[in-house]
Amino acid sequence: MRVWAIANQKGGVGKTTTSLALGRAMVARGLRVLLVDLDPHASLTRAFGVPSDPQPPGVVDLFTTPPPTLASLMKPSPTEGLDFVCAQTALATLERRSATQPGLGLALSQAITRHAGGHDAVLLDCPPTLGLLMVNALAAADRLIVPTQCEPLALYGLAGMVRTGEMVERSRQRPLPVSIIPTMYDRRTRIGRDTLAQLQSEYAGRIWSEAVPVDTQLSNADALACQVFSGAPPGRALAAYTRALDWVLAEEQAMEQAA
Ligand SMILES: Nc1ncnc2c1ncn2[C@@H]1O[C@H](COP(=O)(O)OP(=O)(O)O)[C@@H](O)[C@H]1O
Ligand SMILES: [Mg+2]
Repeated sequence: MRVWAIANQKGGVGKTTTSLALGRAMVARGLRVLLVDLDPHASLTRAFGVPSDPQPPGVVDLFTTPPPTLASLMKPSPTEGLDFVCAQTALATLERRSATQPGLGLALSQAITRHAGGHDAVLLDCPPTLGLLMVNALAAADRLIVPTQCEPLALYGLAGMVRTGEMVERSRQRPLPVSIIPTMYDRRTRIGRDTLAQLQSEYAGRIWSEAVPVDTQLSNADALACQVFSGAPPGRALAAYTRALDWVLAEEQAMEQAA
């Protein structure tokens, strides 16, 4: 079972959109997927139509003793083969507990190791901060997917995230390959084209050769969920995510063959 962390220390770069769109594309490829919402803002959870009040069971429960299984926290989505675990607003207080309770950094990784739910992939939608939840995601992940906007400011967030991934890789002595997916690309603007070209030269070998275009159908989580769950033919951004998935899967396969 592959575990991908979808992360970037910058907010609004398309992490949640990428998680849901890759999840959908995986299901279309016949894979069974478990999406885990690790962001206290719970955008992914809302996209699945789960209200935050009353607080649903979810990720925060993994940090209790003894922890429940992922399978007991999981909810089915309207798409067969796509399940999810909710984020709760209480996740925001977790960061404060971490200082006094060592060992919390592996809670998610242990839950995933014990998980026998028949999924081919677990996708972790990360919060934009390098706190306990991101640490949990990176400890559990065997690949880091970094969505990045095609604008100059996004380059800093991307560089920071790639450095964080390299640090995790060194400390755990297990590879954490990075796959960068440029998002919200507007080819009509000079700045978009220049930034994409710069990204592609700086991160050659780790970045997808295309970019997910700006698409008004994806401009909010509800519109995206509507598109994903309707089973309608994918719009241009979702179609791009299917090609991005095929690239990541090919990278994964090349790595397995080289090992
Ligand atoms: N390709 C796209 N085209 C247009 N809007 C997009 C696209 N991707 C994401 N968005 C929108 O951009 C905003 C931020 O995306 P989101 O996935 O929530 O980012 P993050 O999880 O990194 O905060 C959301 O309103 C989302 O609907
Ligand atoms: Mg998000």
